[in-house]
Amino acid sequence: MTTMQGQTVLITGATAGIGKVTAIELAKMGAAVVLVGRDAHKVENTVAEIRTLPGVDQPVDGLVANLASLAEVRALADTVKARYDHLNVLINNAGAVFMQRQTSPDGFEMTFALNHLSYFYLTLLLLDLLKNNAAARVISVSSGAHIGASLNFDDIQNERKYTSFKAYGQSKLMNIYFTRELARRLEGSGITANCLHPGFVATNFGRSNGGIFNGLFRMTHLAAISPEEGAKTSIYLASSPDVARVNGEYFYRSQVTKASIQAYDDLAAKRLWDISLKLINDPEIEKV
Ligand SMILES: NC(=O)c1ccc[n+]([C@@H]2O[C@H](COP(=O)([O-])OP(=O)(O)OC[C@H]3O[C@@H](n4cnc5c(N)ncnc54)[C@H](OP(=O)(O)O)[C@@H]3O)[C@@H](O)[C@H]2O)c1
Repeated sequence: MTTMQGQTVLITGATAGIGKVTAIELAKMGAAVVLVGRDAHKVENTVAEIRTLPGVDQPVDGLVANLASLAEVRALADTVKARYDHLNVLINNAGAVFMQRQTSPDGFEMTFALNHLSYFYLTLLLLDLLKNNAAARVISVSSGAHIGASLNFDDIQNERKYTSFKAYGQSKLMNIYFTRELARRLEGSGITANCLHPGFVATNFGRSNGGIFNGLFRMTHLAAISPEEGAKTSIYLASSPDVARVNGEYFYRSQVTKASIQAYDDLAAKRLWDISLKLINDPEIEKV
């Protein structure tokens, strides 16, 4: 088994599904894991569960943040910086689909805020910690749902016409744009950026919409793989020496895979980067 001893890994959305299994498996490999979740009790319980795993004697930490809020992302990064002087791996994993259009505390469409802006902002805020190593990895959990999606830059938050799966697919395309643009900007720095499709996985995904949606998402699980299976590519990207130098790629089943044609539109990726930077409006953010 690959060792992760001496490595510090931060994972968002680590209280359930793919993120939780990723945290457990990386901790079993010896990584000091920093779990981020939005629910304090779930974070506490997951930290306790991992600490009691056989062979886990390295630090396991838990932090609480609603990642759909820019202020909470910033506060989270401040806490991480106060507690750690370096990070080896950042896994942007927390994500959701919203059946009804909702807005974040900052007034952004929720899918855009949680699935894209939180990945973007948290990564930029933690870049200094990632740079404090000879090598570091940024991993973003995207989805095959990006296929068929494209961005309408005149209505990037779907104010005119919202459909949940369109907004979700677009946010997952944004994860690929973000990864490719970050990889380009960090080329030669020792930090790599890659993203992945975990497969169709039986998790709590979609259930926070409640009501009939809960049952509908549960029914689709008959065709889904387990969270243990679904976490494999995230774990591979975080730990395998084989991908230490791979940068800017989209993975599925631990292999570099072709994303949609739209995903290779570098001008769109650059445009999204500039728009995101403007929306975040944080003068202290490092120019990458
Ligand atoms: N499941 C699939 O088939 C599938 C397929 C392709 C891609 N993905 C992607 O995989 C990633 C993980 O999804 P999953 O399937 O593991 O879903 P999940 O079981 O619902 O887990 C999502 C995690 O994100 C956390 N989270 C949700 N909203 C948050 C917020 N506002 N702030 C902080 N944390 C928040 C959840 O916290 P709670 O535990 O408190 O709910 C949970 O820990 C997502 O990015 C998703 O888009 C999933």
